[in-house]
Amino acid sequence: MGLSSEYVVGIDLGTTRVSVLIGEISPDGEIRIIGAGTSPSDGIKKGVVVNIDGAAEAIIRARLMAEKMAGVEIRGVCASVSGAHIRSFNSRGVIAIPNSKREVSTKDVMRVTEAAKSITLPYDREIIHTIPQDFVVDDQDGVRDPVGMSAMRLEADVHIITGHTTQIENLAKVIRKAGLDVVDLVFEPVATAKAVLTEEEKDSGSMLVDMGGGVTSYALYHGGCIRLSGAVPVGGAQLTGDLAVGLRTTASVAEGLKKEYGIALAELAGDEDTVMVPGVGGRKAQEVRRQIVAAIIEPRCEEIFTMVKDAVVGEKYYRMLGGGIVLTGGGSKIRGMVEVAEQVFDLPVRVASPAGLEGLAEIVYEEGWSACVGLLVYGRDSLLADMEWGGAGKQVRRIIGKLKRIASLF
Ligand SMILES: Nc1ncnc2c1ncn2[C@@H]1O[C@H](COP(=O)(O)OP(=O)(O)OP(=O)(O)O)[C@@H](O)[C@H]1O
Ligand SMILES: [Mg+2]
Repeated sequence: MGLSSEYVVGIDLGTTRVSVLIGEISPDGEIRIIGAGTSPSDGIKKGVVVNIDGAAEAIIRARLMAEKMAGVEIRGVCASVSGAHIRSFNSRGVIAIPNSKREVSTKDVMRVTEAAKSITLPYDREIIHTIPQDFVVDDQDGVRDPVGMSAMRLEADVHIITGHTTQIENLAKVIRKAGLDVVDLVFEPVATAKAVLTEEEKDSGSMLVDMGGGVTSYALYHGGCIRLSGAVPVGGAQLTGDLAVGLRTTASVAEGLKKEYGIALAELAGDEDTVMVPGVGGRKAQEVRRQIVAAIIEPRCEEIFTMVKDAVVGEKYYRMLGGGIVLTGGGSKIRGMVEVAEQVFDLPVRVASPAGLEGLAEIVYEEGWSACVGLLVYGRDSLLADMEWGGAGKQVRRIIGKLKRIASLF
């Protein structure tokens, strides 16, 4: 493969925390995690930047921690993007294969994918991803890899993910301010899916639902590729807010109670179970039945899952989810969440965890690393894909530029 030691870096800029992972790619393409850093977020709300300086400082803290652990300095990064500004849709491109050759080349595949992108977007949006799904070669549909096939006409179905231009620019600004360069920008659930969905799940149909702090995002796979994706602007922070109001306490007390005693389904709380709500502002602590906690959390969880379901329920792929729902994100840690999701989606649900990496792997089994691990896998895959394209000729210079930015040991 001609790959000596290369590095990939993932930065997950969440509403709650910023995480940085540094991975070393071995010559056979395996990723070994050599550094990890995290810091509470600042200046990010509902997945988008609201304060550039605060967010940049949070990145710098996480970055320094990861660099110290890995013993390398980083520059080029794969960063996650999220937020309710993300919109996606499927599009089809068509090209003719010249009569002189009648055989599909890698260049034709790039050309037809480009053709699928030539749609008019509103002036304030830009494309984040163009992900090929299947190809149609003359009248033969469902072709995964058309290269080398005889054809006169090639069509491509692609999934296009777009975001609000200024919000993407602000994200890039924050990362630059932290002294880093964005090599790849990845919609968060697309990254997370790389870390947690199995090939079988992607094939038989699964939807990843990531309940974060301020955003719940989703990516639906079928037939091995992404079919639908999006985000709704609600998440764990709303649960905390509801608890604070319902239990008449502060947000920080509510956050602690949610993590320790949170429960999303009243049936799971015993009749006798109680929770001590510490007194604030000189008031006395009060004992509250855990069923009350569930009664506050349950409707909001139902609402969040229903918003996601409403976004996809009209699509044919939603009726093809043999693999069910895969939950990730901090919000999925609450007891009973799986059961609530099962009721809303009427599908089997499991909670995900990333697997299959070497190095400081124990770190990534803890909560909150799935998106970052997915970013490393995404970065590795795009690096390898670029090298393959490079082998095909033309793009070598672009690739060398990219490698320089990624493998930034200096
Ligand atoms: N053990 C737990 N029990 C309940 N909730 C939890 C637990 N751990 C984390 N959370 C909640 O999960 C949310 C944070 O999730 P996560 O770390 O996935 O978000 P994020 O990536 O920072 O945000 P986003 O993706 O929305 O930008 C917070 O609301 C937090 O309260
Ligand atoms: Mg997140």
